[in-house]
Amino acid sequence: MSEFKRVYRMNGLLRFNHWAMFVAFIACAVTGFYIAHPFLVFETGEVIDSYVMGYVRLIHYLGAIVLDVILIIWIYLFFFGRHPYFKFIFPLRERGKEALQMLKHYFTLDMKDRPESDEDRMDALNAWGIFLFIIVFKALMLITGFAMLSPQINAENTAIPGGQYVFYYTGQIAYIIFGNLVNIRIAHHLIAWLMIFFVIIHIYIEIWREVFWKEGDISIVFSGHKFLKKK
Ligand code: HEM
Ligand code: HEM
Repeated sequence: MSEFKRVYRMNGLLRFNHWAMFVAFIACAVTGFYIAHPFLVFETGEVIDSYVMGYVRLIHYLGAIVLDVILIIWIYLFFFGRHPYFKFIFPLRERGKEALQMLKHYFTLDMKDRPESDEDRMDALNAWGIFLFIIVFKALMLITGFAMLSPQINAENTAIPGGQYVFYYTGQIAYIIFGNLVNIRIAHHLIAWLMIFFVIIHIYIEIWREVFWKEGDISIVFSGHKFLKKK
């Protein structure tokens, strides 16, 4: 029988972040596709009284706020946290090799191909994927979302003093990258699909590890701990 060592991998803040992100992401995905293709019609008098799109947009924005706050927490943790996951993409070359090795392991299913793991950090392939998802995709969703919103925001209808400038200048970054509002909307859709793709692979991989590694990997997001096989 193998012996196991219990290791601490995710602190309370990270676990809270993870599940807040889970809820906010699903809320944004569902409401986002409704905004793109509205289908509900309530025949309760004036269309404006049912206000469906208004509530759907509100949920999209609340979800977006949660995702953006988590992004800021992550950037803070990158500099000051003890377990900032995406720091594990450094040093780039070494971690790149480790990530390729992990990819090989997923294809060969051979335990001999599994890279040596350091007990208190995430593997490099996961770290690369999460770096993309947390920082790059979320930041792109933020700027493309703000760019879509900024034509509707002016000094009279924003509750935040100077709010119109926040949307305008953040949105301008999206114009620099994508050119015009049509491309910006397409980019928001495209990244939405890339994120959905990431989440499906992420959940599949976590279940795969649970089954094949037999080290209780899924527990990381609940208790913060997993069990490492002693060599
Ligand atoms: C919308 C759904 C999800 C998203 C966006 C997501 C995203 C993430 C991210 C960004 C991380 C890195 C740590 C962090 O910042 O929180 C992570 C870690 C993790 N997630 Fe998820 N996740 C989702 C759903 C799930 C589900 C349903 C499970 C359980 C099967 C799960 C299991 C894990 C585990 C075990 C880790 C830690 C991996 C490690 O440290 O090696 N996730 N997830
Ligand atoms: C960083 C977070 C996000 C921000 C700031 C944001 C912002 C926005 C804004 C302002 C709109 C335009 C809504 C309108 O015209 O009323 C929008 C639309 C949309 N969002 Fe997001 N969003 C975010 C995250 C997401 C995520 C995570 C998804 C899906 C996975 C998503 C999918 C969509 C879709 C499909 C649309 C419809 C675009 C259209 O066809 O017009 N968004 N978002």
